[in-house]
Amino acid sequence: MAGIHIRNIEDYNEAYALSINNPEKFWEDIASEFQWKKPWTKTLEWNFIEPKIKWFEGGVLNITENCLDRHLESAADKLALIWEPNEIEGSTLKYTYSGLHKEVCRMANVLKELGVKKGDRICIYMPMVPELTFALLACARIGAIHCVIFAGFSADSIAGRINDCGCSVVITSESMSRGNKKIALKTIIDEAIDQCQTVEKVLVFADTKSTVQLKKNRDYLYIDLASNASDVCPAEPMDAEDPLFILYTSGSTGKPKGVVHTCGGYMVYAGYTFANVFQYKHPEIFWCTADIGWVTGHTYSLYGPLLNGATTLIFEGIPTYPAPDRFWKIIEKHKVNIFYTAPTAIRSLMCEGTEIIEPYDLSSLKVLGSVGEPINEEAWHWYNENIGNSDCPLTDTWWQTETGGIMIASIAGITPSVPAHAGLPLPGIQPVLLDADGKELEGNDVEGYLAIKFPWPGILRTTWGDHERCRLNYFDTFKGYYFSGDGAKRTAEGLYRIIGRVDDVINVSGHRFGTAEIENAINESAHIIESAVVGYPHDIKGQGIYAFVIASSKDSDPELLKKEAEEMVMKYIGKIARLDKIQVVSGLPKTRSGKIMRRILRKIAEGEINNLGDTSTLLDPGVVDLIIKGVV
Ligand code: WT7
Repeated sequence: MAGIHIRNIEDYNEAYALSINNPEKFWEDIASEFQWKKPWTKTLEWNFIEPKIKWFEGGVLNITENCLDRHLESAADKLALIWEPNEIEGSTLKYTYSGLHKEVCRMANVLKELGVKKGDRICIYMPMVPELTFALLACARIGAIHCVIFAGFSADSIAGRINDCGCSVVITSESMSRGNKKIALKTIIDEAIDQCQTVEKVLVFADTKSTVQLKKNRDYLYIDLASNASDVCPAEPMDAEDPLFILYTSGSTGKPKGVVHTCGGYMVYAGYTFANVFQYKHPEIFWCTADIGWVTGHTYSLYGPLLNGATTLIFEGIPTYPAPDRFWKIIEKHKVNIFYTAPTAIRSLMCEGTEIIEPYDLSSLKVLGSVGEPINEEAWHWYNENIGNSDCPLTDTWWQTETGGIMIASIAGITPSVPAHAGLPLPGIQPVLLDADGKELEGNDVEGYLAIKFPWPGILRTTWGDHERCRLNYFDTFKGYYFSGDGAKRTAEGLYRIIGRVDDVINVSGHRFGTAEIENAINESAHIIESAVVGYPHDIKGQGIYAFVIASSKDSDPELLKKEAEEMVMKYIGKIARLDKIQVVSGLPKTRSGKIMRRILRKIAEGEINNLGDTSTLLDPGVVDLIIKGVV
């Protein structure tokens, strides 16, 4: 059986063939390596029309038993978690599997005491501290659905998510330290909850009790409740298709949508992809630099490693604090073996020169990974040579919030790794490239829309509270397929190269924003009547955000308008969506039917003004010249 442990190219070929010829058998073999309280009765039921996707129906499990309890017999004292604090002189914290198990059970009991029950939605707004990992696992332990909100979103964004999922309990921290900044998270949560009706309790982590403002009968300090909570807590039996978590992500239209992942399928897919892509071997130390506020952090900082009994490292801070050598310092200090980060981080550290890497011993590294956006060749080579010493397989992993785990990537050291190419699909994944009519492009050396034609256990099941939105977003463009929203090439050798989004989604430093979402925020300003947002190539971030705004009154000060646009984005989305360029314009290029021609704005933002393409269908072609000349 080559299912879960692919160790050479023959294993890969054999596993891939089985996964196509008999997908159910393929996934049954993998799923049976996990611990089920009750075996499943039906491996797969699906159609991509409604869509309806059910894996391992009838199966009963709890993912935390697979992450924790299962390892206690043989590896209770093995390190599960290493935490590196923001401050360089702060102390590292380490948790063994038995230590982490106790913390998770204790917190699960605290949540129960607050009245949390199976199926309740719990929003988590916290820094990258060990308690964040306890919080996710504690929810999973008792069957509550966690919904982590990245601690860079504004009060308005949080309120939108709380209201959408009907969250009853929020878990937060008094404050967060990132680099030399301290951010008062609890204050932001208070402001968010003012706009919400469903929140009954707030659980707060604080370093010093005295400074936190607690609202009576609503807010509770964790340490007060934890001091007499038991560290034993039975794991709630969960149906394979019960939701495990909701994670909000942006699409091309409207508000962010709550992507739903389920207990059984997500577990199997997170465990399987972690083990194979990174070729994890005990007792290696794995470090994924992603925040747990994103799916990468869910799957590869937390669930994937723990499901495999691995040691995972999490870091509270940022790569440039106190100096831009922090990543390399941490790798040396903890002898990290597998390092998984994003192209944007690599590109920003490239600018610091190689001298700052030289003092460090990075020889512990065995495998490097990249995720979040296409990695350009220059960054790929720099990473490979300067960090991997040209001696570590580098895996460029393509996947999405909706896919739950890695889909197309080199299996480290086994399947081809070519700069700027994600490579071959993992066994179990059936990608296709489609033309605009939804016809599959056969053979190699073709380019088209990247879609997947058969389900895998980690696929999203729905978008919270709105199944039709899920259908429209992912299953409607090309009937019978899951459509990723990305364009890709298949090279002559059959390797996939991701080109980027083909919809109105901008990928900024590996994070997704819908242009409509940003425009809606900007348009909240009373001084701005209309706006159009496009992405443009940015050296560090991959894509930057370029906003064209129109003033509501002719005599507005352009500098004030720019400030206004910035403030609206901070208020309605958060710091992470900071606008890179703002241009005040008098009109936007529109078709006769009133649709903004973003293609033209994108070209202008890219500086490609000699190649604007056909502008004859514009209502007022003259507006383009004014924008180019910067005339308001
Ligand atoms: C979008 C998904 C994958 C988890 C983090 C981002 C882009 C992601 C790659 C890659 C080229 C990539 C795609 C995708 N993307 N990884 N290795 N090569 N593009 O998750 O926020 O759901 O974004 O990120 O455009 O659709 P996400």
